[in-house]
Amino acid sequence: MVKTPGVVRIAAVGDIHLGRAAHGPPIQTLFAQVAERADVLALCGDLTDRGDPEEGRQLGRALAAVGVPIVAVLGNHDHESSKVPELSRILSDAGVQVLDGGDAFEVHGIGFAGVKGFAGGFGRRALGPWGEECIKLFVREAVDEALKLETSLSKLRTERRVVLLHYSPIVGTVEGEPREIYAYLGSSRLEEPLIRYPVDVVFHGHAHHGTLEGKTVGGVTVFNVSLALLQRSFPDAPPFRVIELRTGQERREDGQIERRMDRQTDRRAEAQAGRRGVES
Ligand SMILES: [Fe+2]
Ligand SMILES: [Fe+2]
Repeated sequence: MVKTPGVVRIAAVGDIHLGRAAHGPPIQTLFAQVAERADVLALCGDLTDRGDPEEGRQLGRALAAVGVPIVAVLGNHDHESSKVPELSRILSDAGVQVLDGGDAFEVHGIGFAGVKGFAGGFGRRALGPWGEECIKLFVREAVDEALKLETSLSKLRTERRVVLLHYSPIVGTVEGEPREIYAYLGSSRLEEPLIRYPVDVVFHGHAHHGTLEGKTVGGVTVFNVSLALLQRSFPDAPPFRVIELRTGQERREDGQIERRMDRQTDRRAEAQAGRRGVES
């Protein structure tokens, strides 16, 4: 049950890197304020530092006490130990809905579609599938991730739609990182499904030194919710970003349905939103 009828609050964060020394607040306190501030928790990958099942069990114990529905995608670090099925099962047992294409997760009238995504770069400079076989395989991975996202979005019938990624679909939210690594931080191929299907908001992580917000070419807001970036940008706020979505369609005078999203509600954070606080 949402606390304010017609408004669903989504808390989002990625790049927890559980297991990495001195990265972020202690896991016991990371989610302490989620239940009082949000109706859903969305996690954007790199939840563990090495994809070790023991890291997953520690995270699972912390998440089991959160008290609101949890939806997640995994990140590249969660793949490091090649134990993704075991890690996903540990998180599922803790009540986390782990998305990797397939059926979307629906809660409080909002549909969540998610994939990890992949790298390859942005716009006209993106890597193309040409030359060596390994280059074609690399590009194929990004194409396949985009297709999985597109399939999930095509099945969604909810009024509001949220996309979770680990890699960025746009260059705007990786700006602040060294330019040399932009191409490893995301792929424009992930933006294509966001243009073809209606989406209200996108969350991603991976770019720890990127930019808080950007927009797709279709005008959908993309939030980089990497924990390190949030902590630098909003040092006094809880270690997640809260976005409100209104449910309940509103019809304009011309009869068109208006899709409405209210953004960040934390006034303190809003006041600081223009301050990037990027340290690369
Ligand atoms: Fe990360
Ligand atoms: Fe990552």
